Amino acid sequence: MSSRAPLVVANWKMNKTAREAAAFAEEFLALRPSLPDSVGVAIAPAFPALERLGRLLTHTQILLAAQDVHTETKGANTGEVSAPMLKDLGVAMALVGHSERRRDRKEDEAAFTRKIERLVENAISPLYCVGETLEERDGGKTDDVLARQMTALDPFGSLPAGLVIAYEPVWAIGTGRAASPAMAVEAHRQIRSLLAKRYGEGVAATVRILYGGSVTPANAATLFGEEEIDGGLVGGASLVPADFAALVKAAG
Ligand code: 13P
Repeated sequence: MSSRAPLVVANWKMNKTAREAAAFAEEFLALRPSLPDSVGVAIAPAFPALERLGRLLTHTQILLAAQDVHTETKGANTGEVSAPMLKDLGVAMALVGHSERRRDRKEDEAAFTRKIERLVENAISPLYCVGETLEERDGGKTDDVLARQMTALDPFGSLPAGLVIAYEPVWAIGTGRAASPAMAVEAHRQIRSLLAKRYGEGVAATVRILYGGSVTPANAATLFGEEEIDGGLVGGASLVPADFAALVKAAG
């Protein structure tokens, strides 16, 4: 039995206005009493919905999360959002390195290191996302890709406070084709062994590693039933309150 508390994180991506986020919260909070307390829950709306959702989540155990953060604290960076701005809104966790940003914004490990630094300075937990493309998997490069992506943590002498990792194989995201539990477990073990090399086995054993990519109420229990899978980072299935509640239940 793992000592790590399970965590399920909703990544709404570019979905839901502030009003729609509020409607979700109302429905989801009504379901919350029927869900296991042992499962941590976080919701990452788009930036414009953070404040409204944050107000509704005050005094609940549900964490407010952001989908990204800028590498700098402030300055001439039009359109960007900094860690202190997120902190001010009550954000407790932020995604870094999502594959959609790796792909669309060409962000690299050096940038992710700086983002994680900004988050840690502001006592926000980094949720660092890694995962290979189909081409990389087919080419037998999954291990190399994960090792390269994990170098974003190299500059940290000790484990960044609150760090959570999400393994999200790119080919599983939004495709309806989730990784098999065995595939996910293999990748999670590799990620944990990379953490162990840097920070020692004892520390590595405390880090939650979530699986993401086409998690649904139908496959969640099988995935989350694996000792190595500490919960999920969920896109599509997190948009509907009843579905998201089913995922939280499956992680309990
Ligand atoms: P889906 O759950 O829609 O496949 O998205 C996964 C994801 O990218 C979460 O960050």
